[in-house]
Amino acid sequence: MDPYYAPITTGEFQLFAKLIYKLAGIHLRDSKISLVSNRLRRRLRALNLGSYREYYDYISQGDARAQDEIMNFIDAITTNETYFFRHETDFDFLREVVIPEVESRQSSPNKYIKIWSAASSTGEEPYSIAMTVAEALDGEPGWNIQILASDINVTVLNTAQKAVYGPYAVSRLNNYAINKYFERQHPAAPGGEEKYLVKPHYKKMVKFKRHNLKEAMRLVRFDCIFCRNVLIYFDNESKTHVIENLYNALNDGGYLILGHAESLMRIKSKFKYVRPSVYKR
Ligand SMILES: C[S@@+](CC[C@H](N)C(=O)[O-])C[C@H]1O[C@@H](n2cnc3c(N)ncnc32)[C@H](O)[C@@H]1O
Repeated sequence: MDPYYAPITTGEFQLFAKLIYKLAGIHLRDSKISLVSNRLRRRLRALNLGSYREYYDYISQGDARAQDEIMNFIDAITTNETYFFRHETDFDFLREVVIPEVESRQSSPNKYIKIWSAASSTGEEPYSIAMTVAEALDGEPGWNIQILASDINVTVLNTAQKAVYGPYAVSRLNNYAINKYFERQHPAAPGGEEKYLVKPHYKKMVKFKRHNLKEAMRLVRFDCIFCRNVLIYFDNESKTHVIENLYNALNDGGYLILGHAESLMRIKSKFKYVRPSVYKR
C-alpha cells in the first residue's frame, strides 16, 4: 500500500460510486473498492491532495477546475479493454447480414451506410468495422461509408484518433490481415515494440465524438450500432435507458450488436431478438 495515503474508506468509496452512477450510469460493486482506490490514487498524486475525501470535495465544487477534473475522474474509473476484430463473428454478421440488407434498401445512386461504435474505447472496434465495410463495398461506386466512434472517456478517444497501436491490439490477426490493414513501424530503439498504423484509407472513414450513452444521440440514424462490453457496467435501470436511446438512434430494420456476455433479457425494450447478443429494430 502507498504509505502516503490513508486507505479509502467504505464511505468515501460509496461517494465515488454514487457520483459515477450519476455521471455515466456505471454501477460499481463493493468488490471494486481496491480498483477504485488504485485508479484514483494517481489523481490524488497529480493534484497533490492528501486524501480521497479531499479529492471528492475537489470534484464536487462545481467550478471550472472541478468540471475538468470530472473528465479525469471518469477516465480513471472506466475500463477500456479492447482489440482488433474482438468477437470475430460480429464482423462476419456485419458482412453477411447487415451490409447486404443495407444494400438492398438503397435505390438512389448515392448510397449510404451508417454505423456507430457507441463505446469505442481506443478505436480498435470502429476501425475493424471500417475494414469490414470497406472490404465488402470497395470498388462499388456511389457508397458513402460513415462510421461514428464515440466514448465517454476523452483519453481513449485521443488515442483512437492517432490510430497507432502496439502488438496486443493486433495479436489476434494473421500476417496477411496485418499487412493489408496497417503500415508497420519498426521499433525506434533496439528491444522496443513494433507499431501498427491503421492505413489512411480506413482511418478516414471513422469520425470521433465524445458521447455519454445516458444521453440521446440526435445527430443521425444508423443502420447498425455496436455497443459491446459496456452494458455489463450498468444496472438494469441505466441499461433500460441506454437501450431506449440506442433504439431511437437506429433506422427501422437496423441492428444492435452487444458484447457476447450481454443481453436484453432482464430489461424491457422494443428490440426484436435475432440471435445471442444481436437485436433488430
Ligand atoms: C471495455 S470497453 C469496450 C470497447 C469495445 N466496445 C469492445 O467491445 O472491445 C468499454 C468502454 O465503454 C466506455 N463507457 C463506459 N461508460 C460509458 C458511457 N456512459 N457512455 C459512453 N461510453 C461509456 C468506457 O470508457 C470504455 O471505453
